Amino acid sequence: MRYPLIAAASAAILSAAGMAVAQHQGHHGHKGHGAATADTRVLVNMPPELVDHTLANMRDHLLTLQEINEALARGKNDKAAATAEQRLGMTSLRLHGAHEVAKYMPEGMQQAGTAMHRAASRFAIEAQNSDVTGDLKPALAVLSEVMNACVACHAGYRFK
Ligand code: HEC
Repeated sequence: MRYPLIAAASAAILSAAGMAVAQHQGHHGHKGHGAATADTRVLVNMPPELVDHTLANMRDHLLTLQEINEALARGKNDKAAATAEQRLGMTSLRLHGAHEVAKYMPEGMQQAGTAMHRAASRFAIEAQNSDVTGDLKPALAVLSEVMNACVACHAGYRFK
């Protein structure tokens, strides 16, 4: 173990706090709520080249959300599903070199990452289901869970 137990424990607590913030924002939709308070995010130390690699992935994550949204708006649910699965879902894990970076991440951060990948794969299924049912709402609900994982991890951790 690279991390002393106490650091892992405090990271878990802080990440729980991050989740709570994300939940709170998710349920009430208040923009910028709590944004002015002190920075309590846990600093995660990774080799610089892995940080660069991870931030490049992050920028692709945001682009992916935009492309998913656009595909849904055009009624191209299959495209939204494939984009989510390949770039954010379980299929994307190898593409992102997740195994290599995961060992530097505190447990709570790994959990947020796993939650994002799992939710994205579930979204891919729901988006395809909505072609049959004609109801997009279940897919949108899972897409919100994907975004909630982004928000929770960002609330809890930083690289710099
Ligand atoms: C497992 C944790 C985690 C998850 C999940 C996560 N991120 Fe990040 N992301 C980070 C960290 C850590 C940073 C760096 C923040 C800092 O150092 O201030 C970051 C930075 C970013 C950046 C800035 C990139 C840059 O060039 O500086 C973007 C954009 C971003 N994330 C988008 C997303 C989106 C969109 C999602 C969800 C689809 C997401 N992230 C999910 C941890 C995560």
